Amino acid sequence: MTTAHAPAKVILFGEHAVVYGRPAIAVPVSQVRACAVVDDAPKGQGIVIHATDLKLQQQVGAPIITDDPAYPLEATVRHTLERLGIEGIPDLTLTVSSTVPMASGLGSGAAVSTAIVRALAQHFGRRLTSHEVSDLVYQTELIHHGTPSGVDNTVIAFERPVYFVKGKPIEILHVGQPFWLVIGDTGTRSPTRDVVGDVRCAWQAKPDKYEALFDRIGTIAVQAREAIGAGEVRALGKLMHENQELLQAIGVSSPELERLIGAARAAGAMGAKLCGAGRGGNMIALVSPEKAQAIAVALRKSGAVNAIVSEVKLPQSVNGKQASL
Ligand code: PMV
Repeated sequence: MTTAHAPAKVILFGEHAVVYGRPAIAVPVSQVRACAVVDDAPKGQGIVIHATDLKLQQQVGAPIITDDPAYPLEATVRHTLERLGIEGIPDLTLTVSSTVPMASGLGSGAAVSTAIVRALAQHFGRRLTSHEVSDLVYQTELIHHGTPSGVDNTVIAFERPVYFVKGKPIEILHVGQPFWLVIGDTGTRSPTRDVVGDVRCAWQAKPDKYEALFDRIGTIAVQAREAIGAGEVRALGKLMHENQELLQAIGVSSPELERLIGAARAAGAMGAKLCGAGRGGNMIALVSPEKAQAIAVALRKSGAVNAIVSEVKLPQSVNGKQASL
């Protein structure tokens, strides 16, 4: 039996604009995780996928339609076996579970795909690099999201804070001083594909307006990279406010998100914004460790169905400089 996990993620700065080539900053969140377990199965069974949270069971190779929830899981398995050079259909059972809420801005699809890729590779005694895992997960993100930027698969497969620009080499972010987030869930599910599609329509209708908004978001992400590297946590809070105003202007906030963002600020957060696609899902608040629990309580009182406290600290800096992979 082989078990593998993958974390959730939050986008600190730059969602949506990142689809249009501007930078984004994202960090892994390990408090919630996806898990994949691969077991050998009796000869002739083929591959059976059990997705416990979705309450579904799928035989790989059986007829399936592309909007079936099992389709991305099956596609991940197929792509991974192909990459591993496994010929034919092996006999195994794949069980997938996840504590990452779906369609909530925490990268649940990418987390599940990453856990599947890792579990299959380990099961066949193979080691894939984080780049290879990320590339495979991106294939499934195309199914989930239509036009993904690639930020979700990157931050989750590398499990490091990243400064991400579509099509550019990955940059692992140097974190000058650890900081704390509270992540509040509105409980409203909001499929990324729908919100990204709406933003695309709005961009097509008013390209100049949206390009200018994306430029401003990109500038904030650049400033945030500097602030994070220098350990200037308060500056980061201000940048979060500014990014949230621009996300409102893009049209991806919602009354539920605004309520939680307002509650976090009133309870002493240094900054707060939605994270991920928006229109529901999760928001993040930048907090001091002393106030983290009180802000989590304030979010729950304002209707959050969950509030997670997460520390962003950082790993490897190379001689104190940003490390590139
Ligand atoms: O909602 P999530 O966690 O899938 O994040 C989506 C982030 C977007 O920038 C809106 C889309 C993308 O592909 O980067």
